[in-house]
Amino acid sequence: MQSGKMPPEYGVGAGGGQVTKDGYVQAATPRQLIALDDLPDGAVRAADGAVDGIAEPLIVVREGGTVRAFLNVCPHAGRRLDWSPGNFLIDQGRLVCAAHGACFERMSGHCVAGPCRGDALREVAVEQADGWVVLAAPPAGSGTP
Ligand code: FES
Repeated sequence: MQSGKMPPEYGVGAGGGQVTKDGYVQAATPRQLIALDDLPDGAVRAADGAVDGIAEPLIVVREGGTVRAFLNVCPHAGRRLDWSPGNFLIDQGRLVCAAHGACFERMSGHCVAGPCRGDALREVAVEQADGWVVLAAPPAGSGTP
């Protein structure tokens, strides 16, 4: 699971995550993506989560009290958007794919320029719980844990 940068102390972090020797908080449950403390207003962060039962790289963004997440998979050619894990290119507040320069609105995931203009990142449902951004619970009766 994704982790967030924390003071370099071992132990239990906010929300029950475990602080590693590198100062990151490991998610305490499979649904946890990133601690809200590690996602300041305007931030774009990488995370990993199970979507439809498959481990996927994710992008988590925040604007004020609103948090959204998208698959870290560009609709143009299926590449990750970050130029190295967790390092994203941002231009005028927009997320830029490091592979070929497609430009996405940060909070909607819509591509507004580049080779996949008009397309969009696939959104993943998330919610906030106990100071964490978590994958949204699947609908009752969906059969997904
Ligand atoms: S893979 Fe993102 S612009 Fe080509």
